[in-house]
Amino acid sequence: MESSTSVASDSTKHGAAIEVCHPLIRHCLTQLRNTSTAPAEFRQLVQRLAVLLAYEATKDLAERTVEVQTPLCVTTGELLDQRIGLVPILRAGLGMVDSILGLLPQAEVWHLGIYRDETTLQPVEYYSRLPATEPVDVALVLDPMLATGGSVLAALSTLYDWGVPTIKVLSVIASEEGIREVRAKYPETQLYVAAVDPELNDHKFIVPGLGDAGDRTFNTLPRH
Ligand code: PRP
Repeated sequence: MESSTSVASDSTKHGAAIEVCHPLIRHCLTQLRNTSTAPAEFRQLVQRLAVLLAYEATKDLAERTVEVQTPLCVTTGELLDQRIGLVPILRAGLGMVDSILGLLPQAEVWHLGIYRDETTLQPVEYYSRLPATEPVDVALVLDPMLATGGSVLAALSTLYDWGVPTIKVLSVIASEEGIREVRAKYPETQLYVAAVDPELNDHKFIVPGLGDAGDRTFNTLPRH
């Protein structure tokens, strides 16, 4: 089989989505797509990809300048200056939380329970404990898959209602259709994705995709 060498490039824009292009991302993604990848490795790959996406998505966080005493002298430095919330969409989004908390240990984690009804394909919201007041400054919505976009749109509606001024969505794979839906309803929301896949099949699964991220993460694939 012929191999091809591609040049690493920066991010690519797909409408509202920023496809973060990097050899490490492509390498992890290829392993993640592989149906032979077992849940233990699948979880590690999701964690790695989550960190790489979060690194890109947090480039514009606000900072404040402070004085810092080094062992040699006083100098100035920057610290993060915003309340950041990680918002995993249950279940699959849980797989992205821990590694991003490693980057942002001070972040708050606010869970949203949303699943896609297998018959209607509509999002069903089943868990939210957001407080009535004091929204975070920046929310990072975490869900490995953005298919029709319904689940992310439900999360965005909840978070904008809470009053979050800046929301970014981090998804490993997004469909073109899902990106269009998010852009149409929430053009101000930024999406960071590792890949944009062209199609949804008749069951609204992303193709080529990686299957069901929740089931592959939690080892709950149907047994045959
Ligand atoms: C999957 C996925 C997204 C959603 C994407 O979750 O993790 O949340 O579907 O589909 P959409 O963009 O068409 O809404 P699922 O409903 O399988 O729930 P789970 O994470 O609990 O498995």
